[in-house]
This record gives sequence, C-alpha cells and structure tokens, in this order.
Amino acid sequence: MVKDRPPEHVGIIMDGNGRWAKRRLMPRNYGHKAGMNAMIKLAGHAQKLGIKYLTVYALSTENLSRRPQDELDGLFGLFREYFTENIKKLYEANARVRAIGDITALPEDIIRLLESAEANSPKTAEFTLLFAINYGSRSEIINAVGRALKQGGEIDEDAFSSLLYTGGVPDPDLIIRTGGELRLSNFLLYQAAYAELYFTDVLFPDFSEKEFDKALKDYAGRTRRFGKI
Ligand code: IPE
Ligand code: IPE
Ligand code: MG
Repeated sequence: MVKDRPPEHVGIIMDGNGRWAKRRLMPRNYGHKAGMNAMIKLAGHAQKLGIKYLTVYALSTENLSRRPQDELDGLFGLFREYFTENIKKLYEANARVRAIGDITALPEDIIRLLESAEANSPKTAEFTLLFAINYGSRSEIINAVGRALKQGGEIDEDAFSSLLYTGGVPDPDLIIRTGGELRLSNFLLYQAAYAELYFTDVLFPDFSEKEFDKALKDYAGRTRRFGKI
C-alpha cells in the first residue's frame, strides 16, 4: 500500500470539456473556460496536499492539428488569460510553471508568455505545474532520440529520461483521466511505465478537489510492485 505519503507527481488528462458544455447547450469553448477554472483550483489543492509536480494535459499535438480553428482560438485566449493574470497567484504561492511540448508551433505571443512564465517563476518553488501544451509523447521521444544521436556515446534510461521534455522531473506516480475514455492519448507514454492509472467518468469541469481526493484515496490503496513479488 502507498498509504500516507501523497504521490510526488500526478498527471491529469483533462478530458470532457466539450461534452460538459454540450450538456448545457453551450459552445465547446464554454467548457474549456470551466475546465481552466477547475485546473486552477486543482493546482492549488495539489500543492497544499504536498504533491511536488502536477502535469496537466492542456493541448495535445493532435488537438493542435485536428481541432477547428475557432476552438483553438478559444483555447489560446484562455492560455493567454491564464499566463498573464492567474499565473501571479501561482508565483505568490511559491509555485513554478514549466511548459512541456513543442511550443515553437504555437502563436508567437503565447511562446513569449510561456517563456516569461518560466523565467518569472520563483527559483525556490516547492511545487511545479507542468503545463503540457502542443504535447505529444511520440514527438517527445523522437526529439529525445535525435538529441541522443547528436550527443553520441552510450545512453541509459536515466540519460534518456533527461532528454525528454520532462527532464529532471520524477516519473508520474499517478495518472488521472477524466471524461470516461480509457486511453492515454499520447500522454507521458515513456514516463508512465509504472504509473498507477485512475479513470473516472466525471467530466473535467466537474473534477473538483473532492474528486481529486477520491483519486488519491484510490491510489493510496494500490500496491506498487515494480516487478517484485
Ligand atoms: C479536453 O476536452 C480538453 C482538450 C482536448 C483541449 P475535450 O475538448 O476533448 O472535451 P470532449 O472530450 O470533447 O468532451
Ligand atoms: C486528450 O484528450 C488531450 C487533452 C486532454 C489535452 P482528447 O479529447 O484530445 O483525446 P481523444 O481524442 O479522445 O483520444
Ligand atoms: Mg476529448
């Protein structure tokens, strides 16, 4: 049993915003706005619980290439708002943010916002919000392979991990997916080798602190063997 200690690193696939909005006869971006609010609450909550890293899957590489432009524009608007306004509260709480993904394909102003959010983050932060944006595991791995080849010489698991976008961050202990789908959708495929998985039908905008606690309680009852007996 994992018991008392909170997981060090939790990943969340924040899915179900569109369906949440549809149920309310509202446009999909209304759901994304509600999802952003849920994420802000969860980040504060996770930090209070002593979790050190929270990785939130905000936009996949596939979302960027396959969603309609008006939905992407709505998401970009929310990211702009988050990284100009809400981010200050994160700093005040002594938390840092780090973007993971291929940010070079994003609108220029968002790239700058992400870079300055990282640069302005408190250096002594005890909590890190990893913001997965234009993130895809396969391209992350291919990118890391390219870097490894360029570097040359021997490479082991630790050295390879350090070349991923998540370099320096311990592997996730727990991955949560809201919205009822039972898949990883290209999220942390390499890092999740021994992650505990938690799936819930709750749509992300409804994934409250209480729902998060439920996931942690479930995690606390798991036996992690890592291949041992
Ligand atoms: C997840 O919610 C957020 C993003 C992918 C940006 P969805 O937009 O996938 O919501 P559903 O799955 O259509 O309900
Ligand atoms: C996964 O959700 C990506 C994010 C939550 C950002 P999707 O809604 O894009 O996943 P699929 O398409 O159902 O696999
Ligand atoms: Mg979805």
